[in-house]
Amino acid sequence: MSELTDKLKKDIESFKINSREELEHFRLTYLSKKGRVSSLLGKIGSIAAEERKLFGQKVNAVKKLAHDKLEEAEQRLHKSQKTSRKATDDISLPASSLSLGVAHPLSQTLTRIKDVFYRLGFSIADGPEVEDDFHNFTALNFPPEHPARDMQDTFFIKKSDAPNTDDLVLRTHTSPVQIRLMKNGTPPFRSIMPGRVYRNESITAKSYCLFHQVEGLYVDKNVSLAELKDTLIMFVEMIYGEGVRYRIRPSFFPFTEPSLEMDIWWGDDETGKWLEILGAGMVHPNVLQSVGVDPEEYRGFAFGMGVERIAMLFYGIDDIRLLYDNDLRFLQQFQ
Ligand code: PHE
Repeated sequence: MSELTDKLKKDIESFKINSREELEHFRLTYLSKKGRVSSLLGKIGSIAAEERKLFGQKVNAVKKLAHDKLEEAEQRLHKSQKTSRKATDDISLPASSLSLGVAHPLSQTLTRIKDVFYRLGFSIADGPEVEDDFHNFTALNFPPEHPARDMQDTFFIKKSDAPNTDDLVLRTHTSPVQIRLMKNGTPPFRSIMPGRVYRNESITAKSYCLFHQVEGLYVDKNVSLAELKDTLIMFVEMIYGEGVRYRIRPSFFPFTEPSLEMDIWWGDDETGKWLEILGAGMVHPNVLQSVGVDPEEYRGFAFGMGVERIAMLFYGIDDIRLLYDNDLRFLQQFQ
């Protein structure tokens, strides 16, 4: 019987295992339930009793040989697979972190502003950045020679010879969207109108040639100045917290009467200063008239806030230009 075990031993020894497939082939041929080792063990019953012991020992030795070979090959293949990878491919290392982008601080601020007014029941409207003179100035009660129409502030796209009429401008504020909203609908109106505006100003730490505003308009039968004040105070408290230091002072805009401005305290108690964040007022009757809303029946308030200013106060940014440089070292701080 020893020829059988010797033959099996030889076959096992000469079997070359150099791949995963060969490894599996080896295992199936020799060590599976129906493999050659098992079937040899199955023969033990047909062996003469005095030879059985020796036969059993031999088969077990062959079985061990096959197991050892399998194990050795497994380790060898595993190792060679590992060394064919780069050190950096070690799957046990923690994954390198993905660098995710973050929303720009101005977008984050705008989202916060929208959230506040959404809760106060305002919808959102928008209008074009290239405006005509009528929407940007005339319908908003700017007198024909008002200094805001001057070349100093306004970027003109098309300048006509006739006084103002055909001018096309980059809008200098979001107030023209009030006009579009009211012309295209019927009161009541309660919307905010976020957008980009342009002014031909020199670029400094405090001013830029473009910036963002959020316009607000509320027109209904009994809208009051007290409601405007309440809304603005609620707004700054929701953005900056209840302890925010603000003041509201009288101002002038052609399209509101009375008009006011709101300032927020910037900096320490002693060394800080007031920073204006918005203009507002009761919609001027002439404006309501220019869009076909009866000023005897309806009243409204409007406001226009500077998103950059609100962001700078919120985050403590002291130079508006940082918001436009797109320097990653700056932007990454707003996770
Ligand atoms: N449009 C004004 C500005 O740009 C702000 C404003 C809007 C004031 C609405 C009053 C009412 O300065």
